[in-house]
Amino acid sequence: MNSTINDISTSLAGVRLRNPTVLAPGILGITSSSLIRVANSGAGAITTKSIGPVRREGHKNPVIVEVPCGILNSIGLACPSLDESLDELKETMKRVNTPVIASFYGRTVGEFGEMAEKISEAKPDFLEANISCPNIENEFGKPFGTEPEISARVTEVIKDSTKIPLIVKLTPNVSDIKVIAKAVESSGADVISAINSYGPGMVINIETASPVLSNKFGGLSGPAIRPIAVRCVYEIYETVEVPIIGIGGIQTGRDAIEMLMAGASAVGIGTGIMERDIKIFSEICEEIRGFMRSKGYSRLNELIGKAH
Ligand SMILES: Cc1cc2nc3c(=O)[nH]c(=O)nc-3n(C[C@H](O)[C@H](O)[C@H](O)COP(=O)(O)O)c2cc1C
Repeated sequence: MNSTINDISTSLAGVRLRNPTVLAPGILGITSSSLIRVANSGAGAITTKSIGPVRREGHKNPVIVEVPCGILNSIGLACPSLDESLDELKETMKRVNTPVIASFYGRTVGEFGEMAEKISEAKPDFLEANISCPNIENEFGKPFGTEPEISARVTEVIKDSTKIPLIVKLTPNVSDIKVIAKAVESSGADVISAINSYGPGMVINIETASPVLSNKFGGLSGPAIRPIAVRCVYEIYETVEVPIIGIGGIQTGRDAIEMLMAGASAVGIGTGIMERDIKIFSEICEEIRGFMRSKGYSRLNELIGKAH
């Protein structure tokens, strides 16, 4: 048995992460100061909130409501102007050694390409295409990531616009996530991340007999969606060769290990930060090490896909 496990590094498309924990996009926004705080607190990689082509106010408050085992959110991809977002990204790139994932979206297939080109100037370690947000109106009237052909076209257009490794983030709100995963891999995605929030769902205040969220509906995140996320990652792992970032309801080292065993090479953490603050990254790493020690694992690789 190995009693001193220090190295829990992993790799995504040739980029080394000192540990498998990744800040999921959105929870802490886009400002360099909050991203740098997470990098310094021990995350293996950090993801910006999805950068948009134009300033968006998002939906009116309330945009978040707590539910059993999670939250519903309808932030509506609120974001600053593209120039402001790029300044924040450049500042972050100057000040951290931790790999940075720049998440972004476009309103049309072509705009994904234009965005990729512009964001690449800031030289993030990865681009992440958010084709899964339910809150964005687009030329097709439904999220890009719900159709394999559209998902493939978005991926191709981005790959033609940049040399930076591309992560494509999938939605669980499809009848067969394997088909979408295959489509984006065939079109050049270097990494797949899954899942974005599930739903939408709804909460009604029975005292006032009205919906709680101003937008009425919101995406579900947190432990409530973990079994769905684990199933999605398990299916994606059986379908594609590219590495996977597993996201959805991870709050403990044991949750992270379950996701690794389903086939993820790294794990995204979002809502968990609201429970355990940003120390969650280093604590989950310690919990992973403790599990590995107690079970006699010596390398993180031994856990990845172990449940298959
Ligand atoms: C408040 C909030 C904002 C989010 N914003 C984004 C975003 O900008 N881009 C994105 O790809 N996902 C976004 N997400 C989804 C998360 O990155 C993640 O996929 C989802 O919350 C599931 O993980 P979790 O259960 O660990 O939170 C957001 C989630 C929340 C709760």
